[in-house]
Amino acid sequence: MYSEYIFMWTRALASAALLWTAATGLGAASPAARFAPADWDRELKLAEARDRNPDPKIVETDLTARVAEVEVAPGLKAQAWTYDGSIPGPLIRARVGDRVIVHFTNDLPEPTTIHWHGVRVPIEMDGVPDISQPEVKPGDTFTYDFVVRDAGLYWYHPHVMSAAQVGYGLSGALLVEDPDDGVDVADDLTLVLSDISFNSHGVLEPADSGGPIGMVFGREGNYVLANGKVNPTLRARSGALQRWRIVNTAKSRFFLLDLDGQPFYVIGRDGGLQETPETLDTLLITPGERADVIVAPTRTKKTPTLTLRAMLYNRGYGSIEYRNPEDVLTVAFTNEATLPKPKMPAVHREFDAPTTAGATPVDIVLTLPPATVDGKSEFRVNGVPFWKAKPYLAKIGEKQIWTVRNESKFAHPFHLHGFFFLPLDKTLQPIHPMAWKDTINVPMEDTVRFLVLFDERPGMWMFHCHILDHAEGGLMGHVHLQSD
Ligand code: C2O
Ligand code: CU
Repeated sequence: MYSEYIFMWTRALASAALLWTAATGLGAASPAARFAPADWDRELKLAEARDRNPDPKIVETDLTARVAEVEVAPGLKAQAWTYDGSIPGPLIRARVGDRVIVHFTNDLPEPTTIHWHGVRVPIEMDGVPDISQPEVKPGDTFTYDFVVRDAGLYWYHPHVMSAAQVGYGLSGALLVEDPDDGVDVADDLTLVLSDISFNSHGVLEPADSGGPIGMVFGREGNYVLANGKVNPTLRARSGALQRWRIVNTAKSRFFLLDLDGQPFYVIGRDGGLQETPETLDTLLITPGERADVIVAPTRTKKTPTLTLRAMLYNRGYGSIEYRNPEDVLTVAFTNEATLPKPKMPAVHREFDAPTTAGATPVDIVLTLPPATVDGKSEFRVNGVPFWKAKPYLAKIGEKQIWTVRNESKFAHPFHLHGFFFLPLDKTLQPIHPMAWKDTINVPMEDTVRFLVLFDERPGMWMFHCHILDHAEGGLMGHVHLQSD
């Protein structure tokens, strides 16, 4: 009885891809020109996972979580928690439709798991202890095995004590490419933004520093990192296009990006390309979110180099008071002349926009009651912290409209595991340009609405704030997707 719904949703997603391909001319692309100098991304080069499977449709790799020394700037070293010895962990590259197999080993002193943020995995691969799989104990292994159905930038991180483990350095990017996406820009960079805190001896700051206030604020690291480095330099030919696929893997920090005022041409969000591009002067990427952007960094008289900065964004008390913007990376230019103003690629994606008719309304209210006398604070979802909550319910093929009202004075990047959703406006119409999301900022004392498509993968799926301190402070829940 639900098969027709499954068919409907599968078709909606697939036909979006197909129509889009048709619109851009499948296979017509000749290789795009490269403009960046040979060593342009040397300081930002991510380690890459080695695919040891000869089958072109399978990416098979090993991944070990372990403590290792990392150097975030010359001479600035810390004993971090890493995947394969680096922060961020190795970039895993796949093509849309590939099967990804990751043989994971835990060499950390604590249990852990891997969650594949944004990927439409089966529940057994979702990395949530007790729901998806047992914790991977120190010395143990687990094999993750799933198909990547959707092109886009995704990421992986632990789902055990995640505020601590992500904060100590555990995260990495999973890039699912569509070779026919029509984005004709060869100089492309995967950019993992995060932060980390450690002292002058390279010892990580404890995850509970600052006590309950630290939890409520959401602890930020004292070093801002771009691909694991403090303010690395990227080299560019002035005026040439670059494609940056950006993910924010910080446990609390918001990145409101500014490139010395030069525009971001946004072509995609969490779940791949968006309906149409949009040009933005600043680009907000909250924890867990991704953006696919084209930039044309250009030298000016005033700015012989450019700085990508994280500007102040008011996500709650402590986020703007007595604080300054942070440098994220520097763009330095070759001596060549500035290229004539380039034409931006006309990428777009057809959305078979699902109608909201017949969608079940689900109301979610986020609160932070005043702390108790002993200083304890908890975030609540519909009146209860997650440890007292009952699962929400959904049926296979069901569409739901979630209205998330934030009554607290902190912003919450709200993440749903396993499914994409489409942001809606007050009148419940899709917000344009349409884009598939799995994480969305709910500003303080504000409301967001989105349409969730529950496809054919039953299970107990989490939702939570991606300020991981908030999640552990109560702002989590489950939705139980049932087959009948
Ligand atoms: Cu990246 Cu449970 O999340
Ligand atoms: Cu939050």
